[in-house]
Amino acid sequence: MSDTQKTAKLSFGDQELELPIYSPTAGPDVIDIRRLYADGGVFTYDPGFTSTASCDSTITFIDGGKGELLHRGYPIDQLAEKSHYLEVCYLLLYGELPSATELEDFEGRVTRHTMVHEQMHNFFRGFRRDAHPMATMVGVVGAMSAFYHDSLDISDPDQREVASIRMIAKLPTIAAMAYKYSIGQPFVYPRNDLDYASNFLRMCFAVPAEDYEVNPILSRAMDRILTLHADHEQNASTSTVRLAGSSGANPFACIAAGIACLWGPAHGGANQACLEMLKEIGSVDRIPEYIARAKDKDDPFRLMGFGHRVYKNFDPRATVMKQSADEVLDLLGVENNPVLQVAKELEKAALNDPYFAEKKLFPNVDFYSGIILEAMGFPTSMFTPIFALSRTVGWISQWKEMIGDPQQKIGRPRQLYQGESARDYVDVEKR
Ligand code: CMC
Repeated sequence: MSDTQKTAKLSFGDQELELPIYSPTAGPDVIDIRRLYADGGVFTYDPGFTSTASCDSTITFIDGGKGELLHRGYPIDQLAEKSHYLEVCYLLLYGELPSATELEDFEGRVTRHTMVHEQMHNFFRGFRRDAHPMATMVGVVGAMSAFYHDSLDISDPDQREVASIRMIAKLPTIAAMAYKYSIGQPFVYPRNDLDYASNFLRMCFAVPAEDYEVNPILSRAMDRILTLHADHEQNASTSTVRLAGSSGANPFACIAAGIACLWGPAHGGANQACLEMLKEIGSVDRIPEYIARAKDKDDPFRLMGFGHRVYKNFDPRATVMKQSADEVLDLLGVENNPVLQVAKELEKAALNDPYFAEKKLFPNVDFYSGIILEAMGFPTSMFTPIFALSRTVGWISQWKEMIGDPQQKIGRPRQLYQGESARDYVDVEKR
């Protein structure tokens, strides 16, 4: 932590406290309130953590005003254009871009861990066929702790490393298996001669009767989707992983907790919700009705794929995703698809509407990712599992950082209690 020379003064009642201020390498200064309760006997109140830094981190930085996203200092648009998913995984995990040999070694380690324990096939078969693939993923990833006992000891750095590689390698296999199971097709084993994204596409779309030729443009687009979702600092699911991990829970259990949190429509579930919304709107002439509903205070409807807690100008991931969407739709010749027409017109209508401009609501990454995934042939239920598999590396990197932090403590927020004061129990016959 940097400079503690600056301080903030806090006065309340007859007390005055001096609180240290830290200046980060980027972003606003941070007031250290850790001794507030011990020295002042008060808590702070911040539901939704809108002003609270829960940890110090060196992995990812977002400047919401500028629309900037950096991984270990590197801008996301450069990574999306010049790098690829496994190199970004290395960067997030180890802090620097790899040399050619380091990258080759890392890719080799990930590739050799892509198969899952054969007995996991039986575990999958316990789920209903119509289960949402996210439900299956939460269960199966949590169950990895029942299959890989030799990587559960979080105090052993080697075991932490093996658990990390296992999850990065096996999540595409698990997501593809969840999909295959849901459509009643046999599982497709991974192939070590394919790159990460191509292997995932093949595991999803090949069948024993007919192999799947991976189109390099689609594989590149899939790799971009994975890269753009790899990490996003202390969002809800990452904070969930850190909170779960702070109790000493094993890494597979922590990542399963992250997947569960990601599922919600305000977070990773927005990509599915967005495409379903576009389909529900159905035609361009119904857009004004939905815009009006999104603006109506008495209607809970929100334009899915719009707005962000941190980005208040534009989402830099959305800019790259939009380009990628154009490439894929061009390749597949589906520019005139009705969902796409609705998406384009809705985007225009919202961006020209003062409500959205005043509230700084712009299309986020999920607005475009669903369009690409739909064009590739994925059902909407697979959109969030794909987000989950890409974000796994971010969750693991943040979890590893937390485990290695000497200041790490179990996460235990306080509360502003608004319930009854202490009262005596009343026997049932007297109530
Ligand atoms: N449509 C209509 N109004 C909106 C929307 C929207 N999508 N998003 C925010 N608002 C309004 C909201 O009603 C509120 O208005 P008022 O000030 O009059 O009460 C104002 O904008 C601020 O909204 P908020 O809910 O206080 O903002 P937040 O930072 O808590 O929420 C959000 C951020 C992403 C949850 C929200 O914008 C939202 O629900 N968006 C739709 C879901 C979505 O696309 N989520 C994906 C986020 S990107 C992927 C990821 O990182 O998970």
